[in-house]
Amino acid sequence: MHTYTSLATKETQTVTQMQLPHIQIKDLNVHIEGKHILKNINLAIPNNSITSIIGPSGCGKTTLLKTLNRLMDDSKNVKINGSVLVNGEDIYAKDAEVTHIRKKMGLLSQRPFPLPMSIFENITYGPRIHGQRDKTVLKEIVETQLKNVGLWEEVKDRLHHSATTLSIGQQQRLCLARGLAVQPEIILGDESTSALDPISTQTIENLLIDLKSEYTIVLVTHILRQARRVSDYIIFVYNGEIIEFGKTEDILLNPQNEITKQYVKGFIS
Ligand SMILES: Nc1ncnc2c1ncn2[C@@H]1O[C@H](COP(=O)(O)OP(=O)(O)O)[C@@H](O)[C@H]1O
Ligand SMILES: [Mg+2]
Repeated sequence: MHTYTSLATKETQTVTQMQLPHIQIKDLNVHIEGKHILKNINLAIPNNSITSIIGPSGCGKTTLLKTLNRLMDDSKNVKINGSVLVNGEDIYAKDAEVTHIRKKMGLLSQRPFPLPMSIFENITYGPRIHGQRDKTVLKEIVETQLKNVGLWEEVKDRLHHSATTLSIGQQQRLCLARGLAVQPEIILGDESTSALDPISTQTIENLLIDLKSEYTIVLVTHILRQARRVSDYIIFVYNGEIIEFGKTEDILLNPQNEITKQYVKGFIS
């Protein structure tokens, strides 16, 4: 167990020399209903890159992702110890404001959840909550963000139609645009292409690759091929522990740990 930790720490240092850590997780432990779900997590996630969290079902990937924007706080019987620093600021500090923290992060879930309103209103919802009332500005935000996710040409003539009239793939791009509209710094995705067809999956993957120059992106996926296609770095989680963290090619082609080797060969699923 200790070799995993020291390995992760060694990799972390190598990575941070190249790129600034945007998110730093220090001695994070999560207990749910008395069970130790995340164990001694220490990580530095670099900016302007895509980091994928991989590992078998039930190993703690979603829990790790949700601790990054304090979504685990919403669950009952959850105990969180340790710290998560975003730009050096501890989001678990006593005086940390959850709304302020979540504004920095856009979350893309497994299935698209458009709000039950029009395409236009889905995108302006966040900016309006944060006080933007200027109609010209709101229109600009809608156009910019729809262009950002490659939806503008498809929907510009029906902005006031219900978002639910869009295909699932389009809805997921709309949800991404809705997240981007509040100008987050970090995009979190939890298996966010699992409900999509291959073409929509590819569209979302390409969008995320385009967006990484401006955002820090952390994705949960159990699809190794997807992790290989999109990520710069990979975190391999097993049974609530980080077994290895490093550059995508190192983890997939030259894993150091026996469990990682088994996982990338497909012997553990
Ligand atoms: N709200 C919860 N209540 C009880 N157990 C939970 C809850 N959330 C997660 N768990 C447990 O924590 C473990 C990790 O879950 P999760 O992070 O969802 O795994 P993954 O995303 O890797 O499949 C699982 O054993 C799961 O049953
Ligand atoms: Mg999950």
